[in-house]
Amino acid sequence: MTTTITSKVVFTVALLALSHGLQAAEVDARTLIGADNEPGQWLSPGRTYDEQRFSPLTQINADNVAQLALAWYADFDTNRGQESSPLVINGMLYVTTAWSKVYAYDAKTGAPRWNYDPNVAGGIGIKGCCDVVNRGLAAWGNKLYLGAYDGRLIALDAKSGKVEWQVNTIDEARSYTITGAPRVANGKVFIGNGGAEIGVRGYISAFDANDGKLLWRFFTVPGEPSKPQENKALEAALKTWTGDLFWQLGGGTVWDGILYDPQTNLVYFGTANGSPWMAEARSPQGGDNLFLNSIVAVKADSGEYVWHYQVTPSESWDYDATSPFVMADLEFNGAKHHTLMQGNKNGFFYALDAATGKLLAADPFTKVTWATHVDMQTGRPVEVPSAHFGKTGQAIAVQPGGQGAHSWHPMSFSRNTGLVYLPMVETVSAFAPDPNYKPRQNTANTGMGRAGPEIMKNLPEDAPRTSRAFLMAWDPVARKQVWRTEERGTIASGALSTAGGLVIQGSQKGELNAFRDSDGKKLWSFAAQTGVVAAPVSYQIDGEQYIAQLAGYGTRDYYTPNHSRLLVFKLGGKAQLPAAEALPPARPLNPIADFGTPEQLTLGADTWNVQCVMCHETAYGNRGLFPDLRYSPMLNSADAFKSVVIDGVLESRGMVSFKQRINAQEAEAIRAYLTQRANQAKAAAAPAR
Ligand code: HEC
Repeated sequence: MTTTITSKVVFTVALLALSHGLQAAEVDARTLIGADNEPGQWLSPGRTYDEQRFSPLTQINADNVAQLALAWYADFDTNRGQESSPLVINGMLYVTTAWSKVYAYDAKTGAPRWNYDPNVAGGIGIKGCCDVVNRGLAAWGNKLYLGAYDGRLIALDAKSGKVEWQVNTIDEARSYTITGAPRVANGKVFIGNGGAEIGVRGYISAFDANDGKLLWRFFTVPGEPSKPQENKALEAALKTWTGDLFWQLGGGTVWDGILYDPQTNLVYFGTANGSPWMAEARSPQGGDNLFLNSIVAVKADSGEYVWHYQVTPSESWDYDATSPFVMADLEFNGAKHHTLMQGNKNGFFYALDAATGKLLAADPFTKVTWATHVDMQTGRPVEVPSAHFGKTGQAIAVQPGGQGAHSWHPMSFSRNTGLVYLPMVETVSAFAPDPNYKPRQNTANTGMGRAGPEIMKNLPEDAPRTSRAFLMAWDPVARKQVWRTEERGTIASGALSTAGGLVIQGSQKGELNAFRDSDGKKLWSFAAQTGVVAAPVSYQIDGEQYIAQLAGYGTRDYYTPNHSRLLVFKLGGKAQLPAAEALPPARPLNPIADFGTPEQLTLGADTWNVQCVMCHETAYGNRGLFPDLRYSPMLNSADAFKSVVIDGVLESRGMVSFKQRINAQEAEAIRAYLTQRANQAKAAAAPAR
């Protein structure tokens, strides 16, 4: 109660103070809570604390967006993934890129001001599941906060880029990584980390924004059962686990969605899947496994548990609950609720009362085959028994697949239309239990066996053969889709909505598009020369509105030229990208004849599944971020293959030596297995006679 009243007072004071405009480079409670009074700036990852990613600016609008053109651009140095949204504060634009680098520009002219490279060691690249990406900064006072891939939280002086302080937030012996953006409130920086299936125990921490002192930490899964748990919530959570694996491998990392709400003074965060994925291997006698796959609310001041909602109990399909949140005041069943929303990887769109965690809505926004619906009385999904491959022992194809129907790609809520613009993907994955699963530290633990190609061949008629991405307008109150675009590639892209009646969204196909918010009509498109998956932002300087978009996410394959860039647009912009060079010819599919004994092929497939899939596997939508090894000429030479995989000749390029993890026989077995897959692919592509 007290907290609510206090924050209301703070809010009113903030509004009064803001009528006098912003002072210097400062960001504080006043400016962040009152961000709506500074619509020309973008002060925090989601612009406002409710993270709606809605710009109140109207200069660029549905009537004139055809004149939107490039104002300036800046090139980056790598073709690894670019997932960040910039901040724009007092005329400066700050953006992070792959390998946790930070660049600062004059937001109007694009003149570079400073850049900062935390020098994350190349070998750290292997610690993560999914590329050395970064999703942005937070700002407080005159500092910027960066979560570096190697687990450091770094405070930079916003004017100079000089390091003010840095702290290590992780146990370096474990495979923790940071890709998410920190959030800041009341002098505290909140940051989590990734590594759920790689055997780390998830947590979120709060650090003092001034000096980096650790203020509190909330673990998302229990620790060693024989020792006292860190708090009562974890004592209770312990009862939802069985076996003795869980506290050694953990999971439930907080790798993306975090939202601070000044009205409740709570911090909300989503937790990832468990380690391993398959529930039966993780917790052999059952149990919900709290707080995996959950939305959790804790007090911002102390980290004390307040409520949780477990989205997918006893989860096995990689349905992290880490997608970014959006908050809005909405009416459900005749009552106004301060509402926390999430479009989840598991295919359901959730609305929860922010103060109590009460479930207000849970509806499928895509085809869901693992559950029939969510029981609104119990709040639990009603599951389809055959989806539990760990229980049945049978392989099965499940929708959505492990990629998720909506993952980290930010959604946006328009205050004009009341709609959520949801980047979503239709996917399917085959899941099968691994009868020989053994827990492994610092290596992916999925507990997943090979499902066999028949499963995917016998998919139902309407199942997507490859992932299909769409932009969807979702009405959170009517609880249904209003419109969706045509298919836009195989992975989603973050969205921005504006009071100008627009939704701006990139596409992995190499475009940035503007759609009309009411009906999804495409009004404008820009050829970005590379995939665009990050969410754009909008700002205004000297009476001119800008749209800024980080681009860079492969196009055809890993060996296309790097066109990672920051693209900044305004009406009548005069800048032009250099003409795109013609793509070099695609690598041919040219494998040698199959070789290897059946035992060798099995060993190769199993080792591949554990060690290499997360980066190289094409089934994840051929992201173009890593080479598709079926096309690698190195497959044709045992020596060349070994020089990369065991001797590490490409280490400086992010392909580390695997000699600590696999031996030369296993490397050769992988080569045999990949050669077989390359020949299968070649046969499948051969024209019918
Ligand atoms: C953490 C991500 C990651 C993992 C895991 C990984 N790789 Fe790589 N791999 C890369 C990257 C990045 C490159 C491209 C390096 C470059 O630019 O030349 C690469 C390149 C290669 C190449 C050279 C391809 C070519 O034609 O030049 C081979 C061979 C290879 N990897 C084999 C493997 C094998 C086998 C495994 C599992 C034992 C594995 N990789 C696991 C990231 C990874």
